[in-house]
Amino acid sequence: MMSVGVNVDDKDLLRVFTCGSVDDGKSTLIGRLLYESQLVYDDTLARLTEDSKKHGTQGSDIDFALLVDGLLAEREQGITIDVAYRYFSSQKRSFILADTPGHEQYTRNMVTGASSADVALILVDASKGILTQTKRHSYLIKLLGVRQAILVINKIDLVDYDEETFVTLCDAFQTYADEIGLKETTYIPVSALRGDNLTSKSVRMPWYDGPTLMSCLESIPLDSEVYDQHFRMSVQYIIRPNSEFRGVAGTVASGRLSKEDAVVVLPSGALAHVERIFCGETELQEAVAGQSVVVTFHEDVDVSRGDLLSAPEKLPQVAEHFRATIVWMSNEVMLPGRTYLIKIGSRTSTVSFEAPRYEVNVNTLEHLAARTLSLNAIGVCNATLSTPSPLERYAEVPEGGSFIVIDRFTKDTVGAGMVDYVLRRSDNIHWQTFEVDREARTRLFSHRSALIWFTGLSGAGKSTIANLLEKKLFARGMHTYILDGDNVRSGLNKDLGFTEADRVENIRRVAEVAKLMVDAGLVVLASFISPFRSERELARNLQKEGDFIEVYVDVPLAVAESRDPKGLYRKARAGELPNFTGIDSPYEPPESPEIHIQNSQGDPEEAVAIIMRALELKGIIS
Ligand code: ADX
Repeated sequence: MMSVGVNVDDKDLLRVFTCGSVDDGKSTLIGRLLYESQLVYDDTLARLTEDSKKHGTQGSDIDFALLVDGLLAEREQGITIDVAYRYFSSQKRSFILADTPGHEQYTRNMVTGASSADVALILVDASKGILTQTKRHSYLIKLLGVRQAILVINKIDLVDYDEETFVTLCDAFQTYADEIGLKETTYIPVSALRGDNLTSKSVRMPWYDGPTLMSCLESIPLDSEVYDQHFRMSVQYIIRPNSEFRGVAGTVASGRLSKEDAVVVLPSGALAHVERIFCGETELQEAVAGQSVVVTFHEDVDVSRGDLLSAPEKLPQVAEHFRATIVWMSNEVMLPGRTYLIKIGSRTSTVSFEAPRYEVNVNTLEHLAARTLSLNAIGVCNATLSTPSPLERYAEVPEGGSFIVIDRFTKDTVGAGMVDYVLRRSDNIHWQTFEVDREARTRLFSHRSALIWFTGLSGAGKSTIANLLEKKLFARGMHTYILDGDNVRSGLNKDLGFTEADRVENIRRVAEVAKLMVDAGLVVLASFISPFRSERELARNLQKEGDFIEVYVDVPLAVAESRDPKGLYRKARAGELPNFTGIDSPYEPPESPEIHIQNSQGDPEEAVAIIMRALELKGIIS
């Protein structure tokens, strides 16, 4: 999509994306395409002949799969595990081919590769037929908006070049393609191993009168739609070599930009006019989709990294809520209510998802009820951003409507998705301010409000310490309240259990209640196991800087277990209480709590003395 119009050697460039299942011969196919288009250099060829003898599966013939499976690790495992880009060209065209693995768990690479492709090659092993994997990939291709697909029916030699097998496979796939709305599929029977129908027509399939794979790739029309769309460019960085020059760098995602054009900077909404456009050293009159440029403006506008420059005629909506289709890519399930990082264009912000509305069964296309999304699941959820951002429907502007989801702590990519549409709820809800506010209450109560958050294993002593602390604060005439796990769970949160998803929701609600209570002027003591860093971070972020005091009540598991005040550890060990923290459910200790209490001795007086000193230093008690 973004690639259109970029020329290599004055030939146009087609972005090809390949996918398929393990063992369907993709590497061999690509290797032979490269070989036959004569881009394999002599020394590579020499090495290949050597390697083929060592690792190959084709006797003394050249093993074309080795051309592509560059990494030794991959060779040893016999599967390909990353996106690899290959360049080759024919007389008519240049090609960039993104090769992604067919192994189930590598869906992520597939999304990376496919989102910028003009055409997808879907490989099928003629002897195996259409697999779940074939369907999953086709479904993703459709979601990602790749408009053209070529179903390459490989290993046709294994079925004796049989026409009927080919026709049956085509019919089966076409039925599925029609159901998911994948338009324009071309079917080609090939044998990558024997070279049938790759660059020259096979004599072994006289019944086939369609194009070879190469001639098909050469003649597929390029998609020129991006030029005609409205101008969009994400700001990647600001260039300021000296005080005279201030340029904005990025890649034009769609449309065109000329000198003197007006653009709107989002989310601020500022208007600016283009002064000059540079592409490398060259100054341009006009930039088009796919080009990386630096733009200067007549006005001294405020632009920063992550902003979006947009044509004024049609602006993306700046909003917080949207409906999203998400492909989950992590072994850790998606947890509704948890905050993740989200990258849309070059803008990173935080997001949380509601429980999925449904998950898609890629085989039957049924909508399944789901409470979460696990590895490789495709689902539809409502999403909320922490701050309003420019959003576009993926179907209209793929670059502005696609995103990746990143774990806040590990920084791993855990999902990818598309904006289906903006939800209008945010427009109708506004925070109401009242005249009796937190400040007024602070004056009346003669103390500041704050949230003291106790975290630690069950039996660590959180509630005991909170109880004693509250007594002391109360004795000083302070306005306090304890939010406690067992108590909140008997009312507000009685619908929640102890799965990870329920614990996330438990803490999310408590964090919101605590926020209201701090606004009410109270010193709130929250006592929850709160096992996950992410949700404690959420509770922190809902408070103003300095108003959140995290107290880690730290005891080794063995100590908590030996205390076992409610007899729950015994039950958990006996297998009568599943998902018990520390036994078969994780606890993530705080990395830098404001207060760390080693509570193995179980001396609440001393713990409270430590906390009181900290509260004095923070000016919460005098
Ligand atoms: S949290 O993990 O969601 O933060 P919370 O603090 O609300 O937990 O509740 C913990 C209390 O619930 C424990 O003190 C214990 O009394 C009780 N409980 C019951 N089942 C479990 C369980 N499976 N894991 C942990 N605590 C449990």
